[in-house]
Amino acid sequence: MFKITTACLLFFFVIACKQNPHKPANPTGLVTKKAMVVAAREEAASIGAAVIKKGGNAFDAMVATEMALAVAYPFAGNLGGGGFMVYRKNDGSVGALDYREKAPLAAHKNMYLDSLGNVVPEMSTVGATAVGVPGTVAGVMAVHKKFGKLPLEQILSPVIALANKGVIVTEKQAKRLDNSREKFISVNGDSTKFAQVYYKGDTIKYPALANTLNTIMLQGKDGFYKGEIAKKLADFIQEKGGFITEEDLAKYEAQWRNPVIFNYKDLKIISMSPPSSGGITMQQIFKMMEPFDVASFGHNSEKTIQLFTESARRAYADRNYFLGDPDFVTIPTNKLTSDSYLTERMKTFSFDSATASDDIAHGAIEIIESNETTHYSIVDAEGNAVSVTTTLNGAYGSKLYSDELGFFLNNEMDDFSSKPGVPNMFGLIGAEANSIAPEKRMLSSMTPTIVEKEGQLYMVVGTPGGSTIITAVAQTILNVYEFNLSMQDAVNAPRFHHQWLPDLIMFEEEGFTQELKTNLKEKGYKLREGKNPIIGKVDAIRILPNGQLEGGADKRGDDTAVGF
Ligand code: DON
Repeated sequence: MFKITTACLLFFFVIACKQNPHKPANPTGLVTKKAMVVAAREEAASIGAAVIKKGGNAFDAMVATEMALAVAYPFAGNLGGGGFMVYRKNDGSVGALDYREKAPLAAHKNMYLDSLGNVVPEMSTVGATAVGVPGTVAGVMAVHKKFGKLPLEQILSPVIALANKGVIVTEKQAKRLDNSREKFISVNGDSTKFAQVYYKGDTIKYPALANTLNTIMLQGKDGFYKGEIAKKLADFIQEKGGFITEEDLAKYEAQWRNPVIFNYKDLKIISMSPPSSGGITMQQIFKMMEPFDVASFGHNSEKTIQLFTESARRAYADRNYFLGDPDFVTIPTNKLTSDSYLTERMKTFSFDSATASDDIAHGAIEIIESNETTHYSIVDAEGNAVSVTTTLNGAYGSKLYSDELGFFLNNEMDDFSSKPGVPNMFGLIGAEANSIAPEKRMLSSMTPTIVEKEGQLYMVVGTPGGSTIITAVAQTILNVYEFNLSMQDAVNAPRFHHQWLPDLIMFEEEGFTQELKTNLKEKGYKLREGKNPIIGKVDAIRILPNGQLEGGADKRGDDTAVGF
């Protein structure tokens, strides 16, 4: 009798312990009951969470977190850049905001080409010529106007206080500043703030930025895009040889857009629409994978990597050709995302061997990736969710820094296709759809995303990483949904990337065996050799079945989850 009971218990124990993809994994990240902000710096996440605690909603917290990142994380947080927000309110309504930079009025298709038609090195990446019309302040003000609950003063005062008090330099930040110091000096001269060497533990104060933020707090959008700040900014950029005028600034408006919405199995995924490629490209990847029993292949297994890679290869080929600013080009979205088209695209896929990217289209290019954008995820005490990715493009953008106004300017113009077939800094080659035109927005890969399951909020997720953003977001969602990882484990898990061209799989250094790589090579996959960098820095929130929130703050950076 005793033996039978023990055997029964053992049987049930084994069954209970067996990973069940429908039973959510236990959390391994911070868990809170009501609200959470996950961002690249603890200071920014804390200010965002504090705004919610004093009665603000996720949109107030968005304004606070975005501005606090401009203070605490000037590497990517910004007043001189742009971004995208996807939201889901607690009544289930969703939307998106595009505050992407625009080409200035003086821009034209061949502005980065010399008289022989060659791309001028660094003209779209370094210094004033690289700067697009900044969108961030217009973005946060549009959010506050439409959805804000607290007055701007309550939201921005703690940010201004942080700028005045200063931010302590982390080890990673000291390294990043050091890597760019020479460029700061060559672009701005040796009296610029960041010509100085900063060490871990130093405090950097930002009085000029505090003044600029104060004007924005008192005067709103116009305080930045018109009047004294606009004049100083336009004069400064032009003095340095750039194109942006006061008229460009005065004309800038953020755009409310309909997000991309699609189902993957029983998930509903809400992500960014053009001018970001994020949503459509991720939709294509997921839809090509959907017919397969992905969970049964195993996390980061050979089959999973093959299926994901082949879907990404096909999706990125379309991205580079068809996508651009929807205010300027017609994107065949319905066709690109239709089942019949995607089934046709996957007809050449087999687990036996790799498809060559040359069989899909032509080209041979270098891939250069980095993590110079930043993403933050917010859920408030009322269940509203906000997912935001914001950037200066490269590290500290164009490196052009206004000492007078206290912020860096973007080098987003490089996200346009300067010349068809010539890759940008992420190795992405572009086509006519993403060519330069006055007031056009450059194509992006930023993929702020919100996921619903069974009609309920399930995840808020996004990442930096240039062209690797889309694959990193997709893998994080799959890690939770298909492979039953907790939010924090899903964020920590090793990632890989393929973007059609160059025809290479890139693996993060840790977490993939030699045997797996050898097997893939035998099937015809080419792997990127040499030391590979990290892929993305994902900041995400998972909503647990009991309604609590689990943070996933990427261990690859100083990223932190804060909540209550
Ligand atoms: O919008 C884009 O796709 C790029 N400007 C993002 C840049 C980025 O993620 C830089 N960090 N890796």
